[in-house]
Amino acid sequence: MKRFLMGVLATLVIGAGVGALFVYSGLFDISADTPHSSLVHRLIETAREHAIDRSTRDLTAPANLSDAERVRRGAGNYAAMCVGCHLAPGKTDSEIRMGLYPQPPDLARPDEVAADEPARQFWVIKHGIKASGMPAWSKGGIEDEAIWDMVAFLQQMPALSPAQYLELVEASEGHSHGGLAGHDDMHGKAGGSEPHTDNHHDHADDHSH
Ligand code: HEC
Repeated sequence: MKRFLMGVLATLVIGAGVGALFVYSGLFDISADTPHSSLVHRLIETAREHAIDRSTRDLTAPANLSDAERVRRGAGNYAAMCVGCHLAPGKTDSEIRMGLYPQPPDLARPDEVAADEPARQFWVIKHGIKASGMPAWSKGGIEDEAIWDMVAFLQQMPALSPAQYLELVEASEGHSHGGLAGHDDMHGKAGGSEPHTDNHHDHADDHSH
């Protein structure tokens, strides 16, 4: 028994030593342009899915999620904060999305957005996902209600044509959700009364490289 325990202990110490050597050697490939090995990828995906499932167990979406007002308000905030990474009807890709790893899902595509999981979307938008590029938007001061509005909009977005999408964004209050919205020069006119339009311009209009 004692020998067995010593064996276990030695294995653990050697394992930790090899792990530490690897970490300190600089051989771990931290670059975003090389994918994880399938083992690491599976490990992270499994941990993420179980963590989200656990955290959303008691979370229920508001009953009025298909309310047109919610969808309209959500469209403006989505256009102001999310399009660069998650695209929109008529937007095929963006430089930031192409370079991110993991690549943000194209939320305008019905097969990439888990449309029947509003609680999951709410939780991810509110808390973000570590080391993925997905921000915890609540830290920027976005209230729960404004997050639900974006979730409401996400349920509709895959069915919208590019023209319907632009119409909805134009009809919204633009970037307006409390917190920093409208108080920051980067975010357009004070009060957020003007809808953001910069996000759906063609890149070619704005810069060249
Ligand atoms: C800088 C890029 C970036 C921005 C900006 C961003 N996201 Fe994300 N988002 C990501 C990435 C990357 C993931 C995937 C994370 C992963 O797979 O672990 C993600 C995941 C998500 C998911 C989860 C999809 C699913 O069901 O798995 C939702 C919903 C989402 N984002 C909504 C939003 C909304 C709404 C906004 C704007 C308020 C936003 N995101 C802004 C990068 C971004």
